[in-house]
Amino acid sequence: MGGAVILQPYDVNVPNAARRYNYWLGGKDHYAADRASGDVVAAVFPAVRQAALANRLFVRRAVTFMARRGVTQFLDIGCGLPGLHNTHQIAQRINPATRVVYADNDPLVLVHGRALFVPLSRLGVTAVVPADLRDPAALLADPGLHDTLDLGRPVGVLLGAVLHYLDDSDHPHKAVQHLLDALPAGSWLALTHASGDLLTEAQAAHAHVTIERSGIAVTLRSLNDIAGFLPGLDLVAPGLVAVHRWRAGRPADTLLDDTQVGIYGGLARKP
Ligand SMILES: C[S@@+](CC[C@H](N)C(=O)[O-])C[C@H]1O[C@@H](n2cnc3c(N)ncnc32)[C@H](O)[C@@H]1O
Repeated sequence: MGGAVILQPYDVNVPNAARRYNYWLGGKDHYAADRASGDVVAAVFPAVRQAALANRLFVRRAVTFMARRGVTQFLDIGCGLPGLHNTHQIAQRINPATRVVYADNDPLVLVHGRALFVPLSRLGVTAVVPADLRDPAALLADPGLHDTLDLGRPVGVLLGAVLHYLDDSDHPHKAVQHLLDALPAGSWLALTHASGDLLTEAQAAHAHVTIERSGIAVTLRSLNDIAGFLPGLDLVAPGLVAVHRWRAGRPADTLLDDTQVGIYGGLARKP
């Protein structure tokens, strides 16, 4: 652990998580293989586009929540392709001096991120670093991260819709614990995670074969397993809930039901 980061291969013929999410969100950075994969999921889970948007809106509300409580440093792991409301734009509306490190293991995310995230940020500072969540030691040793964030001060860590791309054999709970151990008290962790617990029986019955046919491995975890990512942290009310319910300020966010969303989200603070 702690060696050079191995990025995902760049292959437009193989579906990919970042580009498929961009497709669901109505972006422009996706290829036929990503769209085909997205449509396989949508056939069984028709609200997947709204679910992706609900996930994104959760991230926006969680960042806003932390920024309003004085968090001025963010580490956005599995940040995805740039979209409409990126972490630094959300947080810098509240404090223009906010510093953000974006991290991902997808080469396209890194290229687009460097082109868009860094120059767009006029007041605060952003950096984009290659990182595999499975190797937190390498991420924590990255010089770009240290140039941007002061790990002696609280950091808001974002793990939006990324942990379910880690298999149990990748030891995701250990990886998250490693990150939390490296951060001071007063740091935060916001995460979202796909879960079979939120699906209908019919959806759950099809989930395994749908994931297989989609060509992108996803590990659905139980609410209990997801809560296990936040050990000893103070969970902000309303706790771990379907993302569209988490501090939703607008009626539109609650039009979906939990089975349509299928993703839990929560925010917690290190005491
Ligand atoms: C569905 S997108 C989520 C984007 C954003 N975090 C959000 O919640 O809106 C998942 C992202 O996680 C990244 N990812 C998947 N596995 C990863 C890993 N092992 N390490 C780092 N990033 C990873 C993908 O490249 C993709 O950009």
